[in-house]
Amino acid sequence: MSETTAARSSRLTTAFDIPRPPGLTWYVQAQQPVGYEVSLTRGLLSPANPALAKAVGADGRGGVRALVVVDRVVDELYGGALRAYFTAWQTDATWLVMPGDEETKALEQVVDVTRAMTEMGILRRTERVVVVGGGVLMDVVGMAASLYRRGAPYVRVPTTLVGQVDAGVGVKTGVNHGTHKNRLGTYFAPEVTLIDPEFLRTVPARHIANGLAEIIKMALIKDKDLFTLLEETVTQISSDSLADCGADMSEVVSRAIAGMLDELEPNLWESVLERSVDYGHTFSPSLELRADPPLLHGEAVAVDMAVCVALAAGREYLAVPEAHRALALIAAAGLPLTHPVFTPELLQVGLADAVKHRDGLQRLPLTEGIGSCVFVNDVTAAELARALDFVHAYTDRTNGPEQ
Ligand SMILES: NC(=O)c1ccc[n+]([C@@H]2O[C@H](COP(=O)([O-])OP(=O)(O)OC[C@H]3O[C@@H](n4cnc5c(N)ncnc54)[C@H](O)[C@@H]3O)[C@@H](O)[C@H]2O)c1
Ligand SMILES: [Zn+2]
Repeated sequence: MSETTAARSSRLTTAFDIPRPPGLTWYVQAQQPVGYEVSLTRGLLSPANPALAKAVGADGRGGVRALVVVDRVVDELYGGALRAYFTAWQTDATWLVMPGDEETKALEQVVDVTRAMTEMGILRRTERVVVVGGGVLMDVVGMAASLYRRGAPYVRVPTTLVGQVDAGVGVKTGVNHGTHKNRLGTYFAPEVTLIDPEFLRTVPARHIANGLAEIIKMALIKDKDLFTLLEETVTQISSDSLADCGADMSEVVSRAIAGMLDELEPNLWESVLERSVDYGHTFSPSLELRADPPLLHGEAVAVDMAVCVALAAGREYLAVPEAHRALALIAAAGLPLTHPVFTPELLQVGLADAVKHRDGLQRLPLTEGIGSCVFVNDVTAAELARALDFVHAYTDRTNGPEQ
């Protein structure tokens, strides 16, 4: 403490007749339980299905309001059914249609949502915001709900595969800021997440592959059975097969969600920075926005996973045939294994960024055998270069003329 501050503090303590410092310290401790439901349901927009009505507190007798924020593309495809659903349940819904693309994922969008909440005069605890869209809208509206009067209840209806197995099931919200992905954000749980695979029927193939990257991630780090199931079914995975949700597809999606929740639940606020769900998310955040044209999130994750598979093979955590199986699965899902921005030099830059994000250590998740995970802190530049060589050797072989 500087002399001036000490003198001022001493005058204050005399004036208010409290002990001189060190004197009084108050310590406040509180805990807030978090509980929310993630539910896989069919026919969510059929008036016969009460799940969404229940989520907004409607019983069909009227007097219930909700703010429904819908992705623009989803509104074109499902807006009629959504409106008919709320009408059938006598719910007075206010509509806000917003773009759901990465380029528009910014603080201004969050403010737009809060403005709509103000204009509607939404009640603080009993009226819900419902967000219907992909991962972008989940993050934007979740953030708006967390900021509005320091927290307003909201319901998530994710409509992309990334939304259904990842962005819609955790508690993270956020927007891009400057050149950084998700640099501003909060942790704020919804009341409920309602997942209907039927929405996937209209999701383009590239975005299905995008979501598959996160499912393959869960298989590699914690679910060997899911890995085998994916190997057996990957060529049949499509918008239609996921929407039809037969036994295999339902198992793929529900295993991915269960695995994700199992990892998130004990570490909801990321107090532990060794997170196996960060697998494939070490180099990708720095490189995702550097690619031109930009890579989708899952595509960047796929290339990152390929590097990590090769790193594990280099350390003999994965036998070479297992590493090749992992690379084959990623490729069969329609995802890239390499990209020009993933050079040894840029991988080092990405790793250095990740070290900052992970509070000074690499904490790099690697597979130890397929289906389990270890963390390492000592990956070298030479190892990164060898890992890239491993992946390139694999792609050269599998894409070669003899194939
Ligand atoms: N909070 C988290 O834990 C978390 C986890 C993973 C990803 N994310 C975030 O999620 C975002 C990526 O999510 P995304 O891949 O869903 O992107 P997105 O929300 O941009 O959706 C992709 C595209 O699909 C369209 N779309 C949405 N539903 C559709 C449907 N049913 N049919 C046809 N088109 C549809 C959208 O309009 C958009 O053009 C990223 O911003 C990422 O940071 C967040
Ligand atoms: Zn991800």
